[in-house]
Amino acid sequence: MSLIKANTDASGENLIIAERLSKVYRSFWGLPRVRALNGVDFAVPRGSVFGLLGPNGSGKTTIIKLLLGLAKPTAGRAVVLGKPAGDQKARARIGYLPEESYLYPFLSADQTLDFYGKLFGMNKRTRRERSEQLLDTMGLDRRDRRRKVGAYSKGMARRIGLAQALINDPDLIILDEPTTGLDPIGTVQMKELIKKFQQQGKTVFLSSHLLADVEDVCDRILILYRGQVKMVGAVDELLSLKDVFELRAKNVSEELQNKLTDMVETSGAETISAGAQRARLEELFKRVVAEEISKSK
Ligand SMILES: Nc1ncnc2c1ncn2[C@@H]1O[C@H](COP(=O)(O)OP(=O)(O)OP(=O)(O)O)[C@@H](O)[C@H]1O
Ligand SMILES: [Mg+2]
Repeated sequence: MSLIKANTDASGENLIIAERLSKVYRSFWGLPRVRALNGVDFAVPRGSVFGLLGPNGSGKTTIIKLLLGLAKPTAGRAVVLGKPAGDQKARARIGYLPEESYLYPFLSADQTLDFYGKLFGMNKRTRRERSEQLLDTMGLDRRDRRRKVGAYSKGMARRIGLAQALINDPDLIILDEPTTGLDPIGTVQMKELIKKFQQQGKTVFLSSHLLADVEDVCDRILILYRGQVKMVGAVDELLSLKDVFELRAKNVSEELQNKLTDMVETSGAETISAGAQRARLEELFKRVVAEEISKSK
């Protein structure tokens, strides 16, 4: 059965459904055609944090543009919030942080948010309350808020870009490389924010090549390589080590520890360690991409 037919029932379980999405950028001024996406299928369940992973040029931003209706697929289709990608009503429920934020350099942070609030038809009081709250969350202090955003550092611009994306209190938040330009503290704050969005019942779709960040916040991932899906699924399942049995217990006496280790060894099984057993996302990613690189040689 078609993924779209199976998932667009009244329960609306999947906020995004991509079916056989393909995108070929036409040749332009003698430049060759680029097949950016080739038959990409995936679904993003409501309430999840879904991570799109892939090397530079693998098609992550292209997928995001297709989902927002900023570009048209060459073949296949996407349904977002139950509507065809690009639908204006659905778009009003989406918050989007582009790869590079385009801010009006002569406006202050306050004025920027006020401007976008007006675009969404919010009244003055709501605009002021919402922008106060967002700028607090983003850690921009009162002095910074009155400065022109054109003079902001990269990380500060990223924060105001995110505040702008959230002004309409969206149900679906799409973030293209959210941690780019952020310092380690900013990165941790961004990850905490993403988790907070999820607790508030929002769905987050993000792209990144920072594996540790994705591993920390995403519950589902898709690995893209040269426009094709190489792996998709729940992070816990993808990273579980099937041949390893793990038992965690508190207050285990030294005597019991010795007994358990003896039992494991006399049974012929192998003790690896007493710690947590989970592969790093980094290993999985390298394995998948290295396989593809060796195939294409
Ligand atoms: N407007 C365009 N015209 C022609 N080719 C394009 C255009 N936009 C993207 N491409 C090409 O499509 C491919 C995928 O690009 P895309 O920006 O989607 O990758 P990405 O995964 O987001 O990369 P990055 O990690 O660098 O942001 C690349 O080969 C890129 O050069
Ligand atoms: Mg990109």
